[in-house]
Amino acid sequence: MTRLYTFSLLGLASTAIAGQDAFQTKCSQFADKINLPNVKVNFAEYVQGGTNLSLPDNAASCSASYQAVSVDLCRVAMAISTSNSSQITLEAWFPREYKGRFLSTGNGGLSGCIQYYDLAYTAQLGFATVGANNGHNGTSGEPFYHHPEVLRDFAYRSVHTGVVIGKELTKKFYEEGFNKSYYLGCSTGGRQGWKSIQKYPNDFDGVVAGAPAINFINLLSWSAHFFPITGSPSSDTYLSTAEWKVVHEEIIRQCDAIDGAKDGIIEDPDLCHPIMETLICAPSAKNTSSCLSRAQVHTVQQVLSPLNGLNGTQLYPRMQPGSEILTAPIMYNGQPFKYSNDWWKYVVYENPSWSGENWTVKDAAAALAQNPYNIQTWEGDLSLFQKSGGKVLHYHGLQDQLISSEDSKWYYSHVAETMNLPPTSLDEFYRFFTISGMGHCGGGDGAYGIGQGLSTYAGSDPDDNVLMAMVKWVEQGVAPEAVRGTRFVDGPGSKAEYRRKHCRYPRRNVFNGPGNYTDENAWECV
Ligand SMILES: *[C@@H]1O[C@H](CO)[C@@H](O)[C@H](O)[C@H]1NC(C)=O
Ligand SMILES: *[C@@H]1O[C@H](CO)[C@@H](O)[C@H](O)[C@H]1NC(C)=O
Ligand SMILES: *[C@@H]1O[C@H](CO)[C@@H](O)[C@H](O)[C@H]1NC(C)=O
Ligand SMILES: *[C@@H]1O[C@H](CO)[C@@H](O)[C@H](O)[C@H]1NC(C)=O
Ligand SMILES: *[C@@H]1O[C@H](CO)[C@@H](O)[C@H](O)[C@H]1NC(C)=O
Ligand SMILES: *[C@@H]1O[C@H](CO)[C@@H](O)[C@H](O)[C@H]1NC(C)=O
Ligand SMILES: *[C@@H]1O[C@H](CO)[C@@H](O)[C@H](O)[C@H]1NC(C)=O
Ligand SMILES: *[C@@H]1O[C@H](CO)[C@@H](O)[C@H](O)[C@H]1NC(C)=O
Repeated sequence: MTRLYTFSLLGLASTAIAGQDAFQTKCSQFADKINLPNVKVNFAEYVQGGTNLSLPDNAASCSASYQAVSVDLCRVAMAISTSNSSQITLEAWFPREYKGRFLSTGNGGLSGCIQYYDLAYTAQLGFATVGANNGHNGTSGEPFYHHPEVLRDFAYRSVHTGVVIGKELTKKFYEEGFNKSYYLGCSTGGRQGWKSIQKYPNDFDGVVAGAPAINFINLLSWSAHFFPITGSPSSDTYLSTAEWKVVHEEIIRQCDAIDGAKDGIIEDPDLCHPIMETLICAPSAKNTSSCLSRAQVHTVQQVLSPLNGLNGTQLYPRMQPGSEILTAPIMYNGQPFKYSNDWWKYVVYENPSWSGENWTVKDAAAALAQNPYNIQTWEGDLSLFQKSGGKVLHYHGLQDQLISSEDSKWYYSHVAETMNLPPTSLDEFYRFFTISGMGHCGGGDGAYGIGQGLSTYAGSDPDDNVLMAMVKWVEQGVAPEAVRGTRFVDGPGSKAEYRRKHCRYPRRNVFNGPGNYTDENAWECV
């Protein structure tokens, strides 16, 4: 009733359609109200909470033909041309229970895929939210081939365009407009968050950027360099997944207790420099299933070393120890890494028959010299963002199997040095949290549920939820001291087994006891 009354004051109820309430009517009539240059509305439809939304148009490689939607919302789908040879697909989801906040989601890998689960998640938390397809459909890098404008969308333009249009639409849809704007993304989504901060410092009041694919070109080089190290499965330098498990157990044996707790989780990989020669099979060994050859040990040492360029300068830091079991099937599987391969094929050499088999650091140099549209996303001067009052919460899982968390630490130092600011000053607008026991954007052996998405949701309390922590920081000026993660008993989103407070970098987590490592108060950030 209240809602109808509100809208009748605004003259909207007079056009209400039988059987629909004012929100539904507003939604069904919204498409006709959108008249923006380069924007073609495909449809605006009301979605009732509890719907399992079918997504028949989503590219098959995006592996998302359905999305469960828990709250009532108005779904608007558009095509927006970004140049004469490129366009993005944008969706804006406007929840009925709106909290006055705008948000943009991001993407992953080289995609090409609207992250419907992030739209569903943030709409559920009351944000007017947008998600774009990053300028192409699907997970392959092939659409970049001979299409520089498509690559430009991927490098920076898709998110920014979605934000400009999304903010306009939010003001049109809700008479009260919005007060603050936010960003939530991880991986490529983390890079997109940092790109916004660096290039469009006024787009967001608060950015949550996880496991960012920044230092992007060198990340692709690093991903490419594992295959030449491991070789194919028949080579004597290769380790099976079972052998990587042996390596992981040895690393845990050497490093787990450094933080004071034997819980299978390394709180600070910076202190972990495992000696892998301990795994060399003794000459007398009869059973070699828990030891390695010298060539295999060399492989392990190489993946745990930084990648240096032709002139010896570091391009990318080492893989952090502790992630071996998660990493083995993806990076150490005896095949060239798909995203890297696509990049050299379709962008660097524009040669679809190029194969990553014989990749060398010469290829790294060729790619870095190119750096199209500054996709590196490595600017260290954030002063415009700082001056605009923006806040950024950067997090990175310490078991990340796709993007080494050490690259995030490197970036943090790069910002500190470029801006000539110590951590206490950076803390005023930039806080970085390392998340032990978290894989790439989620998963892992520890307390990785920090509310970064639907499947890692452990409540809306700002202490347990990085997005709501950002809202509190922006709107109440209370910055997060720590990020509390939940370890789930039975996988993502299940019951909590224990919680742990993750420290703000450069502090590290130390177990002081007494009691169990499952007790969050037995830990201290030092
Ligand atoms: C992406 O897919 C959507 C939905 O099928 C389609 O409308 C759009 O034209 C496609 N975009 C590109 C760049 O191919
Ligand atoms: C949505 O529907 C699909 C296809 O029927 C099904 O596989 C999926 O489990 C459903 N999801 C939910 C949350 O009901
Ligand atoms: C397309 O090209 C025309 C002519 O060059 C130009 O005027 C127009 O601005 C271009 N459109 C976009 C969306 O870039
Ligand atoms: C914006 O903030 C003002 C002041 O706190 C508040 O009165 C208003 O309702 C807010 N608007 C929205 C859209 O939330
Ligand atoms: C070899 O050692 C492994 C691991 O210690 C053990 O699981 C396996 O049963 C042993 N195999 C033989 C033949 O003893
Ligand atoms: C080494 O190469 C990198 C990347 O091309 C470059 O930025 C750096 O300045 C070079 N360093 C030296 C010492 O030449
Ligand atoms: C890679 O190098 C090997 C050894 O020189 C050569 O036999 C093979 O053809 C090369 N592969 C490609 C795809 O160039
Ligand atoms: C700590 O708690 C875990 C999980 O409940 C349990 O397996 C372990 O035995 C406990 N350790 C100690 C020292 O109490």
